[in-house]
Amino acid sequence: MKITAVEIAGRRRNYLLFESGRMRLPLSLSKDDRSRLMEGMASSEFYFDKTTGVLAKVKSDKYRWQQRPVRWFLRDFIDKRIFWQFEARKEVRSKKILQQAGLNTPRCLAWGLSLNPFNHQGSLLLIEHVDGVMTGEQYFAGLGEYQREGFLASLCDDLMKLAAAGYVHRDLHMNNFLCTATGEIIWIDTHVKPLPINKRAKWRALYRSISQRHLLDSHYRESLHRYLKRRWRSA
Ligand SMILES: Nc1ncnc2c1ncn2[C@@H]1O[C@H](COP(=O)(O)OP(=O)(O)O)[C@@H](O)[C@H]1O
Ligand SMILES: [Mg+2]
Repeated sequence: MKITAVEIAGRRRNYLLFESGRMRLPLSLSKDDRSRLMEGMASSEFYFDKTTGVLAKVKSDKYRWQQRPVRWFLRDFIDKRIFWQFEARKEVRSKKILQQAGLNTPRCLAWGLSLNPFNHQGSLLLIEHVDGVMTGEQYFAGLGEYQREGFLASLCDDLMKLAAAGYVHRDLHMNNFLCTATGEIIWIDTHVKPLPINKRAKWRALYRSISQRHLLDSHYRESLHRYLKRRWRSA
């Protein structure tokens, strides 16, 4: 761990930086057209480091202390600055779980957090930007009916690998993973939680994770249910 100054769009901020052995410092971050495209599908801000081209995903505090002082104090000051419940830290932890379960994720090069409660950009994640890929939604939209069924089955394979490792995705939707031209899935927004111990409760948690309205339309969600049930029964 080291304390380092990071320049974000011309402003210097201090961060505690972790696991940064492979990262060239200091960092100087700015946005480009790709950032704006990514921000259209996200709640985070995206910058690129000027010298290395590495992607920085910046998570801002949820509340402004001037507008919602109580919520800011509980969520952004106590939870984050005292108990270190920063998004970047949780995302890195989840990324490692996915990798150990055998799922693809981009390489994470470092992550950082700011203990200064008046730095609104509380945490950041430095990750490899994957070029030449589509979001899951774009990839799925370009497939024919038959290929779509095949893709949903391979999505289930990943979910079952994660379940076998004891975890379930917290926010499963088609823009939280990327796809290569051959349909390989790369998981990017990787928040997971442990599955319950009881077998029935496990299935219910898994089923809930693929039942969210914003995942797919009901026809494809039903296919996903069918594939997952089949895989679950044979596991
Ligand atoms: N490492 C990456 N390489 C390429 N594109 C990415 C990468 N990370 C995120 N993106 C793009 O940015 C979008 C939003 O990223 P995401 O991590 O889901 O942000 P948020 O956590 O704010 O929802 C994704 O749908 C994807 O298109
Ligand atoms: Mg997301």
